[in-house]
Amino acid sequence: MKKASLSDIALRLGVSKTLVSFVLNGKAKEYRISDDICQRVMDVAKELNYTPNRIAQGLRTGHTKTIGLIIADIANPFFGKLGREIEQEAARYGYNIIFCSSDENPEKSAQQIAMLQQSQVDGFIISPPINSEDQIRTLAKGQIPFVLIDRFFPEIDCNHIVVDNFDAAYTATKHLLSLGRRRIANITLNLDLANMKDRTDGYKQALRDASIEVDENLVKVLPFSHENKDVALAINELLGKKDDLKADAILFSTSKIGIMAIECISSLGLKIPDDIAVVSFDNTDAYKICVSPVTVIGQPLKEIGKTAMQILLNEIKHPGVKVKTQKVTLKTEFIVRKSCGS
Ligand code: RIB
Repeated sequence: MKKASLSDIALRLGVSKTLVSFVLNGKAKEYRISDDICQRVMDVAKELNYTPNRIAQGLRTGHTKTIGLIIADIANPFFGKLGREIEQEAARYGYNIIFCSSDENPEKSAQQIAMLQQSQVDGFIISPPINSEDQIRTLAKGQIPFVLIDRFFPEIDCNHIVVDNFDAAYTATKHLLSLGRRRIANITLNLDLANMKDRTDGYKQALRDASIEVDENLVKVLPFSHENKDVALAINELLGKKDDLKADAILFSTSKIGIMAIECISSLGLKIPDDIAVVSFDNTDAYKICVSPVTVIGQPLKEIGKTAMQILLNEIKHPGVKVKTQKVTLKTEFIVRKSCGS
């Protein structure tokens, strides 16, 4: 069956293809088209099961009303929730999102950027993998607006939205110290990721400011592709001997690490917070139903999504106009529950 086109709708109503295009692209008010005509166009479009050809629309109007979103892993609760916030904000302005998971692999993100450019996206929102500086530099020299989220490269002048990871980890570590914990560990990811490095730096600074020497044996750095076995090894090194626990508290730099770690702690027969206090980045729902609901560092996902879309739309609407890059650092929320004791 032939796909319905703008011409089919125009022919059916005896109006111009341009009028139909204005109505279907949300420009009816701008061109003073009556509500009655708009309704008739929408009714015929629905009857003919019209679906816009984004590529043709892009060639005709220069816009496909699509945004390419590249994040590490859409299955990760943090990125999944963040992607949802971005998608909802984009829909408010008639934009659709094309999701890509880079798996923190720069070769993958380069392929995804190329695919999205061929798809004529109007802009990018990217959580850049490590070693993807060159592809971000190339984007910065191009014409397609983009904004980095979750981490950025200080040496590249471009839009970014991040949270204050250093301050968040500092606050969480100080909280553990205020409750009398002294042998505080940190389980984190590949410190080539700027946000992970800032988290561990904030944790270490809080220890130093409390005159506690940083013990590198209490800092466990996992590969990005960490699995249960990697987390289990770290937990066993820290807590393997029940009568000689190396740590009395742990800061998890991501919720993915934290959830796997809490399962390991439980399998060792240890109790949270009695034997070990825990704090984690990312306010994932699973933490609320733990036996001792977990004290977390929550990131402002809705605000990140809104801010990213506002920055992009401003540049999309003013093509070619060199606007000042937007560098946004948002505060996190420290949510105290029961996993640190009192
Ligand atoms: O796995 C999700 C975590 O890593 C979040 O804290 C986010 O900041 C990402 O970088």
